[in-house]
Amino acid sequence: MKLSVKKNTVKNIVKNTVNAMASAVLNFLVTEIKGPRYNFGRIGGLAQHQIADPAVMRKILGEPDVFPKPVYLRKLLERNMGRGLLADHTESWAPARRHVAPVFTPGAVEALFSGAIFEETGMLAARWEKQGGSDDVLRDMRLMAGRVIGRALFGGFSDAEADVTMATTGRLLRPSFARIPYFFCKVFRLPFDPVGGMSRAEKQAAAAIDAVIYARMADRSPPSAQTHRDILGHLAAYRDKDTGRPFTPRQIRDHLLNFMIAGHETTASALTFAVRELARQPDIAGKIRDEVAAATGGGMLEMKHLRMLHYTRGVFLETLRINPPVFALPREATADRQYGDIKIKKGDSLILAFEAANNDPGLWEDPDAFRPERFARENALREIFLPFGGGQRACPGRSMAMVEGVAGLATLCGAFDLALKQDITGRSRVVTMQPAGTLAVTATKRGVGPS
Ligand code: HEM
Repeated sequence: MKLSVKKNTVKNIVKNTVNAMASAVLNFLVTEIKGPRYNFGRIGGLAQHQIADPAVMRKILGEPDVFPKPVYLRKLLERNMGRGLLADHTESWAPARRHVAPVFTPGAVEALFSGAIFEETGMLAARWEKQGGSDDVLRDMRLMAGRVIGRALFGGFSDAEADVTMATTGRLLRPSFARIPYFFCKVFRLPFDPVGGMSRAEKQAAAAIDAVIYARMADRSPPSAQTHRDILGHLAAYRDKDTGRPFTPRQIRDHLLNFMIAGHETTASALTFAVRELARQPDIAGKIRDEVAAATGGGMLEMKHLRMLHYTRGVFLETLRINPPVFALPREATADRQYGDIKIKKGDSLILAFEAANNDPGLWEDPDAFRPERFARENALREIFLPFGGGQRACPGRSMAMVEGVAGLATLCGAFDLALKQDITGRSRVVTMQPAGTLAVTATKRGVGPS
């Protein structure tokens, strides 16, 4: 037993190192530096465009049929997460996306999920008050966001269910990559995109999360949208407009799993980076506190106040600009296109480089500076700022993420003075951008600690 664990660990280290090297090769595969917003690389049959020009990125995102996710990525996502919205590029995507759209509008998020969001951010603050802060902000934010999405999906979510979600979903989102074989198949123009089976760890993770999901589904036999104002109830109400057929249990499971995975890591990462900024810059936390006090008149923070918190919203958006959870998106061209000097051929790979665009001094004044005030002109920035992607495949959960972000920051700043106890060591970029190392903060209840 011990031996096989050791063997697996060694195997994983070797696999991860090799994959990291392959990623590095792919990422540095820039043979022609064409400027800050566009670079091109080619090796053998593999041509890769790195695009950091928001205008071109929006055009590419606007044609998801011409520029879908690369086949290997679709296969990996589907292998690990089933055919939910993230992975699905077949004809079943559009009706599913249309069906879930109404529960993610700003009004629906407010009506259906804001109660859970406020309760969960309140519980997070209560825990921080008791412990005097957090020894692992990312863990706490994942738990908070995981519980929010769990409650949105199922109406309620136990601590045990949240623990399983925490332990498993990251593993399924960051699949054991098939980068090396993909790389060689592309370079040597081999006619397939290899994706192996799930690793043992991935199978275990999928089995554990399936137990949670299927138990919830079994609780609802028959599932009903009338009695449950949650996403599971809504998915159960789906009927195909031609055949009248509902989603199969497997389809419902896949959608639920996709929301669980897509719905908490990104938000948690952004909130962690934001807390880091607040702990390092007390004047920013102070401005949030003043704004919250002016909106609530010193009373309880409620959904209706969120609309008035422009500066707080700016802090969350500025965090998404500097630390974009989705820092880049890969795409594959299925047809030729030309945008100015950028000539894309069918079969080429594309990287939409959001992080680079967000740090472009030609687009953003003093891009390294954390300046929430720049989002006072939020509408004017829509053209250049794409934290939630764009086009038909843009993030359906953006309203929920914004409410969680703004409510979370307003609650924490209203309650505490935050100070840095342990800083992160950097930023890791594997599928999503996450803080590397551990962020720990002290949280001193306002009006209690030394002034
Ligand atoms: C700050 C938080 C978040 C960020 C930055 C973010 C970002 C994104 C981006 C950039 C995409 C587009 C991916 C692509 O085109 O390949 C996306 C897709 C998606 N997001 Fe989010 N997201 C966040 C929160 C959420 C939440 C809270 C949910 C669920 C409630 C969610 C559910 C999804 C789903 C299901 C998709 C796939 C949509 C499709 O392809 O039809 N996201 N997200």
